[in-house]
Amino acid sequence: MLKGKRILLGITGSIAAYKTPDIARRLIEQGASIQTVITEAGSKFIPPYTLEAVTGTTAHRDLFEDPFSHLELAKTSDLFLIAPATANTINKLSCGIADNLLSTLMLSFEGPVLVAPAMNCRMYRNPVVQKSIKKIEKRGVIFVGPEKGTLACGDEGEGRMSETAVLVESVVHTLAEKDLKGKKVIVTAGPTRESIDVARYISNRSSGKMGYAIALAATRRGAEVTLITGPSSERPPQRVELHPVETAGEMEKAVLTRLKKADALIMAAAVSDISPARPEQGKLDKKVILDLKLKKTADILKKAGERKGEAVLVGFAAESGMDIRSAKEKLKNKNLDLIVLNDISKKDSGFDVDTNEISIIDRKGNLSEYPLMQKIEAADIILDRLFNRQP
Ligand code: CTP
Repeated sequence: MLKGKRILLGITGSIAAYKTPDIARRLIEQGASIQTVITEAGSKFIPPYTLEAVTGTTAHRDLFEDPFSHLELAKTSDLFLIAPATANTINKLSCGIADNLLSTLMLSFEGPVLVAPAMNCRMYRNPVVQKSIKKIEKRGVIFVGPEKGTLACGDEGEGRMSETAVLVESVVHTLAEKDLKGKKVIVTAGPTRESIDVARYISNRSSGKMGYAIALAATRRGAEVTLITGPSSERPPQRVELHPVETAGEMEKAVLTRLKKADALIMAAAVSDISPARPEQGKLDKKVILDLKLKKTADILKKAGERKGEAVLVGFAAESGMDIRSAKEKLKNKNLDLIVLNDISKKDSGFDVDTNEISIIDRKGNLSEYPLMQKIEAADIILDRLFNRQP
């Protein structure tokens, strides 16, 4: 996701600096190259040697190490992330003080800047710090966190640096091309749960991973995303409007009430086709459970296809084996623009894995087959095809 991107990573004097090598590693894993710049106080918490071992480049410390490093590093970076950022550094940045390499770079850097504050909650609440943050934000700098929680000193409150995954995602999000800006996209994900009685339900093996990946990819690309999700243990992407549901009926209502305002509906959810005709309030005796009466749930996608207006619709066909003919029929019956097939009988392209091997059929009946890839990559292909972008 960050292939070819050059990130300047600034570290200041907070205990959270022990997490910075991990941030650097995760960014490198995404394809970025990293240059680090560390303040003197920062180097008390994390040895520059550690950063150098992780990034394979010099950890820059000294404003006078080279006459132009305060300009060169700024000119050759795509994004500046300061993590952790102390109250002292934030206050300095707010009024443009340039008394070390990091703060001088901040003045000469013209690209996107992300700041991840980390400090004691009382320091964070201090009006001087709050005023500095607002002033810096007005200049377009993006603050990520801090989070609430237990702080290094034992106090509870707002001041913890955001988690590495959150910071890395913020970098990816900031640098992603916003080619879907202005698009409103509804994504459904996960299974539904149809209650039998107070203890039991009918559901399926869907983990929600594919739908969550589509929601994440669309958000990164600037779309306004509503994620309507059945029960899932996946971490919801930041910046989506999250709408958790349990049953097919709840999902139907959530989708159909939002469809009018949407540009696209992507039904990645594995909606249960059946539900008990009459859920019990108490617990059913096992002797009567075999007589359980079932009914069909509404086909949400079919209903959406009947009233889609200008919206484009994507359905999924989870097959055991690739049944192209039946997928084409589904596309026609449900009035879809695309149908995505995946063979759930394969170990690495079914439920609860991070990879998928998809095929896509469009309205004209054209079939495109794709190799096994990460679900996040498959998500981008589906979005490219849906909005006629070149994959
Ligand atoms: N779907 C839906 N409402 C349902 C069932 C399914 O909206 N009650 C959607 C799913 O989200 C998916 C597509 O329809 O996008 C799947 O269609 P379906 O006919 O259920 O096909 P399969 O899941 O492949 O299963 P089968 O053909 O075995 O029924």
